[in-house]
Amino acid sequence: MPNEDHEKNRQAWNEMAEVHYKHPGYRVDEFLDGASTLKSIELEEVGDVSGLSLLHLFCQFGLDTLSWARLGASVTGVDISDKSIEYARLLTDKAKLKAQFIRCDVLDLIGKIDDRFDIVFQSYGTHCWTSDLTRWAQVVVHHLKPDGIFYMVDFHPVVSVLEYDEVSYFKKGPYRYSGEPDYCDRTYRIKNQLVEWQHTLADIVNSLIEADLSILSLNEFDKSVDPGHDDWIRKGQYYYPPEGFSRFPLMFSIKARKPKM
Ligand SMILES: C[S@@+](CC[C@H](N)C(=O)[O-])C[C@H]1O[C@@H](n2cnc3c(N)ncnc32)[C@H](O)[C@@H]1O
Repeated sequence: MPNEDHEKNRQAWNEMAEVHYKHPGYRVDEFLDGASTLKSIELEEVGDVSGLSLLHLFCQFGLDTLSWARLGASVTGVDISDKSIEYARLLTDKAKLKAQFIRCDVLDLIGKIDDRFDIVFQSYGTHCWTSDLTRWAQVVVHHLKPDGIFYMVDFHPVVSVLEYDEVSYFKKGPYRYSGEPDYCDRTYRIKNQLVEWQHTLADIVNSLIEADLSILSLNEFDKSVDPGHDDWIRKGQYYYPPEGFSRFPLMFSIKARKPKM
């Protein structure tokens, strides 16, 4: 039985994919002209992917997936949204790249593909859509080859607590909301309901440890790929709160390894 809350998110992300694909914030035209959408954090922390197989979870319409392909990885992207996967396949053709895209709930992925990967990757806006961290970590470890690397970079779970009155750091939710402005096109109000979950950093890390992954690094960053508020200062690919504002973690990354055998 499909998870009802995830199915609501599927409809909402179908709606949002149409908005995002056409929005300049997603830089689709620049990507088609050869630009990478990957950020320096993941490029440095993941390292050379040339000749490696990479599974991208929560891939949206595949801009990052295809950017890894341009760096020589053999890529597979997974997303729950039908529209996103349609656009990802269109972009693969337009960019004349090779990639496999699968429409699937990440939590249902085991049994949908047989492959095991050198790298499992996810980034920027993923753990909040995951209702079950134990299941998620099982999916990650199942699809890694022995000695394979899991890498995620995402918004720090403390950010939603500071942004939204109703969110508590230690209360998992689900948090349901409707009629919110889209995070990319602030003039567009999302008609479908969205359902998010709040996970502590400890819960995320511990679910990976319980799935038998070894944590290689856990990093926190005082900058964000999200523009935040009007007075935030852009430096290159990242945004910082204004001078004098006390610093708190805006993003985190985790790198972990599956045992050799
Ligand atoms: C903020 S976007 C991730 C953006 C990503 N950094 C990228 O490469 O564009 C979140 C994505 O997660 C997907 N998603 C949400 N819930 C999901 C689920 N249960 N399984 C798979 N994908 C899911 C949405 O469809 C959406 O495309």
